[in-house]
Amino acid sequence: MNTKNVLLTGSKKGIGLAIYSELKHRGYRVFGCGRSKSDDSDYLSIDLGDPKNAKTLYDCAKEAMGSVDILINNAGIYMYSPIENTKPQELLNLINLNFVTPQLLCSYAVSDMKKNLWGRIINIGSISGSVGEAYASAYSAAKAGLLGLTKSLALELAPYNITVNQINPGWVDTNLAQDALNDEEKKETIDIIPQKRFIEPYEIAKLCSYLVSDDAKGLTGQGINLCAGLSCGA
Ligand SMILES: NC(=O)c1ccc[n+]([C@@H]2O[C@H](COP(=O)([O-])OP(=O)(O)OC[C@H]3O[C@@H](n4cnc5c(N)ncnc54)[C@H](OP(=O)(O)O)[C@@H]3O)[C@@H](O)[C@H]2O)c1
Repeated sequence: MNTKNVLLTGSKKGIGLAIYSELKHRGYRVFGCGRSKSDDSDYLSIDLGDPKNAKTLYDCAKEAMGSVDILINNAGIYMYSPIENTKPQELLNLINLNFVTPQLLCSYAVSDMKKNLWGRIINIGSISGSVGEAYASAYSAAKAGLLGLTKSLALELAPYNITVNQINPGWVDTNLAQDALNDEEKKETIDIIPQKRFIEPYEIAKLCSYLVSDDAKGLTGQGINLCAGLSCGA
């Protein structure tokens, strides 16, 4: 039985659900969240587009589990739109969910991790943040900001045996990708991916499982592009 406790955002769908299943399978206790409803006592239905809710989530997770040893910031939304069409409220909502709430959750989680001299933080970014994506400037900016947070926190927390890393997926087969691309666009996208395929959610989950393990203690401050080659050469 693993004794580490995980707080995972966006745990009921897509990549988050795969991470949840993998870590539960490995014996971790996982407190999840999202807007979806659930009777699970280790789950909170909450809108993380409102940064004030980050503290409520953290407090609930800590009360339920006693500690948060591992934080995985996964919940996020995508927005595809020319910059001229920017709507202030949509921009704020995206930045809040994809960047502000993760930073706040980190700020709450680190004090206990520092006391315990052990911690793991994983942020789920995107290759849009590491190499840029036309018509996805808000999304790319939020994910690039997350990478800045990841690298800075890795330096700040290294003396406390806390690692901070970011996984930057390319296209992954989830609702987010299905909503963003119609069948024709999906075919065109697969054509330009070197491995001619989308990443499957379990591939991200397996990397998380390694990053939270003791074997990965020396790996920190990294943005890992898990993208079937899509970011290569960019
Ligand atoms: N799929 C891709 O191609 C791809 C590529 C690169 C990066 N990513 C990143 O991977 C992460 C997971 O995405 P996914 O592909 O698994 O997408 P998904 O299937 O659409 O899942 C998104 C998750 O975020 C949660 N979420 C969304 N809005 C929320 C809100 N306002 N408050 C709380 N939770 C919220 C959702 O839960 P509820 O619906 O229950 O609220 C869901 O669990 C995101 O950060 C995304 O940017 C995805």
